Amino acid sequence: MAKGWPEHLFLVGCGNMAGQMLNRWLDCGLDPSRVTVLRPSGGPVADGVDVVTTYPQALAHGTTVILGMKPYQVADVAAQLAPLCHAEVSMLSILAGTTLGDLRARFPATGDIVRAMPNLPVGMGQGVVALYTDAHTSPSGRANMEALLGPLGLSEWMADEALFNRVTALSGCGPAFLFRFVDALSRAGEAIGIPADQAARMAMATVQGAANMAAAAQVTPATLADQVASPGGMTREGLNVLDADDRLLTLMTETLEAARDRGEAMARGD
Ligand SMILES: NC(=O)c1ccc[n+]([C@@H]2O[C@H](COP(=O)([O-])OP(=O)(O)OC[C@H]3O[C@@H](n4cnc5c(N)ncnc54)[C@H](OP(=O)(O)O)[C@@H]3O)[C@@H](O)[C@H]2O)c1
Repeated sequence: MAKGWPEHLFLVGCGNMAGQMLNRWLDCGLDPSRVTVLRPSGGPVADGVDVVTTYPQALAHGTTVILGMKPYQVADVAAQLAPLCHAEVSMLSILAGTTLGDLRARFPATGDIVRAMPNLPVGMGQGVVALYTDAHTSPSGRANMEALLGPLGLSEWMADEALFNRVTALSGCGPAFLFRFVDALSRAGEAIGIPADQAARMAMATVQGAANMAAAAQVTPATLADQVASPGGMTREGLNVLDADDRLLTLMTETLEAARDRGEAMARGD
């Protein structure tokens, strides 16, 4: 594999999420002639990328298959795709709730299979991707997936597949929670008298700058917050409100618990 790119990439489905991943890979230099996308609409994806509506006769050695359709379509897809898979084909699945055991059962001849849970900022190279695989995946297979996913942002291997639904609550749903926070910061600014448009711009830039600062800091965000809050000052007074009775921590814990519980209910088919 040259420069971390698979010899061939075969995407089954290329909608919101797989499309973000592919756009990022192309932006980072993936040769589009190595990519084939299967999508029922047959709509174009990107310059130079081959789009098909039916499965090819065979998958070449060194192909990495990305499962990017909806999870409920896995049985239909497997009926046509599994006969094409062999030991020299690797698979990356982003199907929420579809376990590695299920994938191994549906695609038994496939070599390395890795489950991934990306979030939407992968399209900007600032995403988070949770990963899980089993002992059937070779060390080089893991390394190849890490190389492929590197341009998308932070990748984290999960030791236990049961954690997948929980990390989905954190990093998968996390962007929406942060959008709410930025909106609340902006509206709170408006509530204390700052013009709405200025409050919106300043809230957004504050969150962006502070996130970058925290990411670059040598200390934890918790320590950073205390370092920038002098005793008796304005920041400390504001933090006292967030910290009272662990108010913010309780709110975030309840938020993640609700998302986690919904994920578990959906996995049960509720
Ligand atoms: N969206 C997220 O934030 C997110 C986050 C993590 C994981 N995921 C996972 O990503 C997957 C896709 O979600 P999405 O939001 O990207 O969905 P989406 O935008 O609806 O895209 C679905 C894609 O699947 C294609 N497709 C439909 N029927 C198919 C079939 N029978 N065989 C092969 N491809 C088929 C569609 O083709 P056309 O383009 O022709 O319509 C489309 O390209 C899901 O499994 C989801 O669990 C999503």
